[in-house]
Amino acid sequence: MMNDLTNLCDTLTLANGVKIPCIGYGTWQTPNGGVTRRCVKDALAAGYRHIDTAFVYGNEAEVGEGLRDSGAAREDVFITTKHWVTERGYEKTLAAIDTSLQLLGLDYIDLYLVHWPCVAKVTDRWQEVNAETWRGFETAYRAGKLRAVGVSNYQQKHIEALWQTAEIKPMVNQLEFHPGYTQLDNVTWMQSNGILVEAWSPLGSGAVLQNGTLAAIAAKYHKSVAQLCVRFALQLGVLPLPKSTAPERMAANADVFGFEISPEDMAAIADLPRTGFSGFLPEDAPADALAGD
Ligand code: A2P
Repeated sequence: MMNDLTNLCDTLTLANGVKIPCIGYGTWQTPNGGVTRRCVKDALAAGYRHIDTAFVYGNEAEVGEGLRDSGAAREDVFITTKHWVTERGYEKTLAAIDTSLQLLGLDYIDLYLVHWPCVAKVTDRWQEVNAETWRGFETAYRAGKLRAVGVSNYQQKHIEALWQTAEIKPMVNQLEFHPGYTQLDNVTWMQSNGILVEAWSPLGSGAVLQNGTLAAIAAKYHKSVAQLCVRFALQLGVLPLPKSTAPERMAANADVFGFEISPEDMAAIADLPRTGFSGFLPEDAPADALAGD
């Protein structure tokens, strides 16, 4: 249960029994040149045990270096990375997984996600393309290269289509989620189907941090808006992936276990008018790869 959580290393349990630390450290837009390496090391020093990256972020190698620099034991850290749209299809997916393993310098990935669904706008064979990609996930999962498998930016229709052929169901769906853009219908549907929802941009990529309504609510709890956002996700059963390049903010963003947002304030936050939305929708998913075979 989310409300039993007492610190960022406490875990939630995925549908296959794998345990996942309840707050992750995000690395989207964290640059190379040593920055990601230093940030990952700092995040692990701040107590995070869950790091989220993606092939397309271009920083998987530095995530691996930061992990090794930290001295943390591999088995104590949960690493997520994501399959990119240029690698759709069975064989390409298998090769993409090996590439990510090599870049990370790891022999298994804790959680591997389809970054974006292939959609009807790209090809009317979108269901088949997604199914073939997923078959690659299943093969690598069975081979022990992936401890858990899931998707990102999927809506109900994409999941239902995948279920037609999937032998292993996606365990996670990582969605844009923050005050001002919660996709609550989508989140609730996923959760009621046993899929853990993770939040990308839980702080709205910084865009909601100046919001007056959120500032007033956060002040009541003597917390920052960033802490309110992280706690808001947790209380809705959504696993947040906040990111910061500053060690003190990394620590602050995970210091969210000493207070509880009231039901009235949860509703007020959920009702916030749209703000901080990235503009990214699955139907506009990057279409630079049609490869489906
Ligand atoms: P910085 O790296 O300078 O801390 P999200 O996790 O939603 O993508 O948001 C990340 C953005 O929010 C980054 O620009 C980050 O900047 C900023 N940020 C993260 N934590 C905090 C915080 N506690 N206070 C203010 N800004 C923050």
